[in-house]
Amino acid sequence: MSAKKSVLSGIQPSGGLTLGNYIGALRNWAAMQDEFDAYYCVVNMHAITVKQDPAALRRRTLETLALLIACGIEPARSTLFIQSRVHEHAELAWILNCNTYLGELNRMTQFKDKATRHADNINAGLYTYPVLMAADILLYQAHLVPVGADQKQHLEITRDIAIRFNNAFGEAFVVPEPYIPKVGGKIMSLQDPTKKMSKSDDNENAYIALLDKPDVILKKCKRAVTDSENIIAYDEEKRPGVSNLLSIYSNCANVSVEEAVNAFAGKGYGYLKKAAADAVIGALEPLQKRFCDVLADEAYLTKTINDGVEKATAVAAATLKRVNACIGFYC
Ligand code: TYM
Repeated sequence: MSAKKSVLSGIQPSGGLTLGNYIGALRNWAAMQDEFDAYYCVVNMHAITVKQDPAALRRRTLETLALLIACGIEPARSTLFIQSRVHEHAELAWILNCNTYLGELNRMTQFKDKATRHADNINAGLYTYPVLMAADILLYQAHLVPVGADQKQHLEITRDIAIRFNNAFGEAFVVPEPYIPKVGGKIMSLQDPTKKMSKSDDNENAYIALLDKPDVILKKCKRAVTDSENIIAYDEEKRPGVSNLLSIYSNCANVSVEEAVNAFAGKGYGYLKKAAADAVIGALEPLQKRFCDVLADEAYLTKTINDGVEKATAVAAATLKRVNACIGFYC
């Protein structure tokens, strides 16, 4: 392994990615790939914790990979791979399952939330989802995990599992830290700014998909819920809608929130919405162009996947070997 520290993160191939994914996670993935040994995976094993159509899952896995490349994550600078192709993830998850308490899993708010939304399919995988996520991270000895704020609790359980395992069996894992953007760690729904922007929202106006066309982005921003005061100020509690538009603007226009608030002094919400839409369109345009080119190049994608799996497996296998020895598996 190199002297650089490692980062790992993952994304589910479960539908069109949103601006929330981009601002909360993917921009940082791209920004971190030179300073760190970067491992980024499309987590199709996590995706099957809710019902999936097999053909759609296969297609979305490829599209997600192409979108990651379009977002600036370059296979030459990062290890980009598909989770299910590296069988060490499932193997380590089992070992970690045997070192995780039900009480810990019972506290996971994302499980409670998903169990409510998928009441007809509360399967064991949904419950142990955070353990598979811990396996993803710990296999690559990741120091940092760039994620949005919604993954904070999963990072906490990962740290607890790693510390407990190290104490019981010897230093097998680096204990990772979450890396969450200060502004934009949680991009909110445009229709209900007290809820996270999510690709699974029934209302299409609630989220901006990374592949939305400029006119659609403008329409969605114009329809964004604000309040009746018409004062542009950042206050997540009193003005969640306006604050959300400000953090979207500041991220996409690459200015601080303070600079944005100053620039908009004396202007109305209509102005802010248009400025936010223009900034989003400007940020997404190059990415959208690149996506079509990458997706069309099947040979390049296949090679990228195979190379990524090979590079990831080398690291994952070394960690698993060490873990197997630590716990007394006959080797
Ligand atoms: P997923 O696929 O739901 O989302 C991928 C990344 O996007 C971030 N994100 C957001 N950030 C800000 N605002 C939003 N509205 C928003 N919506 C999504 C997420 O926080 C995430 O970083 N469990 C993970 C996938 C995973 C993973 C891992 C992550 C599996 N193994 C190992 C890190 C490390 C998930 O479902 O992300």
